[in-house]
Amino acid sequence: MTYLGLDIGTSGVKVMLIDANGRALAEASAPAVEPVRPRPGWSEQNPADWWSATLGAIDGLRQSHPKELAAVKGIGLSGHMHGATLLGENDDVLRPCILWNDGRSAAECAEMEAALPSLRNLAGNIAMPGFTAPKIAWVRKNEPEIYKKISKVLLPKAYVRLLLTGEHVEEMSDAAGTLWLDVARRDWSDELLGVTGLTRQHMPRLVEGSASSAQLKSELAARWGMSGAVIVAGGAGDNAAAACGIGAIRPGEGFVSLGTSGVLFVSNEKFSPNTDGAVHAFCHAIPDTWHQMGVILSATDSLNWLSRITGKKQAALSGEAESQFTGPGEAIFLPYLSGERTPHNNANARGSFVGLSQSTDTAQLAQAVMEGVSFAMRDCQRVLSDAGTRINRLLAVGGGSKSTLWLKMLATNLKMEIALPEDGDFGGALGAARLGLCAAENADPAQVMSMPPIKTTIAPDASLSGAYDQQYQRYRALYEGIEEARI
Ligand code: XUL
Repeated sequence: MTYLGLDIGTSGVKVMLIDANGRALAEASAPAVEPVRPRPGWSEQNPADWWSATLGAIDGLRQSHPKELAAVKGIGLSGHMHGATLLGENDDVLRPCILWNDGRSAAECAEMEAALPSLRNLAGNIAMPGFTAPKIAWVRKNEPEIYKKISKVLLPKAYVRLLLTGEHVEEMSDAAGTLWLDVARRDWSDELLGVTGLTRQHMPRLVEGSASSAQLKSELAARWGMSGAVIVAGGAGDNAAAACGIGAIRPGEGFVSLGTSGVLFVSNEKFSPNTDGAVHAFCHAIPDTWHQMGVILSATDSLNWLSRITGKKQAALSGEAESQFTGPGEAIFLPYLSGERTPHNNANARGSFVGLSQSTDTAQLAQAVMEGVSFAMRDCQRVLSDAGTRINRLLAVGGGSKSTLWLKMLATNLKMEIALPEDGDFGGALGAARLGLCAAENADPAQVMSMPPIKTTIAPDASLSGAYDQQYQRYRALYEGIEEARI
């Protein structure tokens, strides 16, 4: 018996097959058409692209590993969070999906909080433009003809599930990022839905991430050579799925992710909001468990930007920084290229370089970018600890974790050890496959979600600690000053 995990990302779909012991058997992926930015700060993608990438990736496994694919008994889904996929009466897609990193709905966020003063208490989260509900408030105001036709609102992976199974179902970790969920009670909130003029009718049915959500359509099972009932688990939002992949499901266990966005994630035994610090307080993908995240919008995306404007590859830039590194440099970078969520909740914030001189070169700029992202993650840690959270164990994931220097900056700033898993993919696809296994076999998530083998542990560098403390204070002071100067 095997289990299949699907990780639906904005740049493509990754699939992973595991056996009953959770061992990875095969992987495949297929690219999606990249999101478009029709206006500055907007970000949209056509849901049909997720589906063609899903079919492409699984068909790839059919070619490379037909026997293992035919043995699939459970499927789990992981997906980029928050995207508003609007469906009409016949499940027709009404407009391109407005994605997690779209910042157009800042005005609607303020209007929603004014309309329902208890919103933050109920949702346990601030109304932020990244979340789903404010995007619908924007559509209601700016595209009323489309708003009127909405029959269901699905998150990206629930849309893929609909095409896989024919059913509208969502699970708790992703549902928590809509701003329509009563996160403490793990149920839709009529009051929160009412703020955007919607009701439970517009929402998919809710299940836990490790529970069964529906069965794979028989024609798809036949296409991939599968027989018997194939269970599709609830799955998880991509961050909760990554946590399942690296075994961060017990209180205090977490990860730091240096991907396009940066995430500091920690599991909690109870619902633990801190709306003042713009902490995301969500359900985890397994029953009776919650998690918190600090989310920054431009982590490796900041280095990506520097790479675009200097014409040097990201790896070359971080390599240059590494080879000349002696400690915090003069330049300071604020990574707010797409606005910021934690801790500022400011879609209009913008990035800055400060402290440049005639001798500043690209290596120093790259170092400042990596430091700026590390300071932003330190901000996230600060507001999580303001909510009373202690992180006991932290693993590093995401493309940026390939840089030892970046991990050293992080460990020194967060003042804790960071464990780096051995090479391999321990992200959303593995977590999703594990949730598929739990749902199909009724297995205990605590047994299934083990920690990967650790390649190395990066310790804080005591010799840099004081200098980074000072630099971090300068970094924090800059945000206020720069925001004031922009007004
Ligand atoms: C989390 C968030 C991002 C996306 C990336 O709140 O918006 O991490 O899930 O896919």
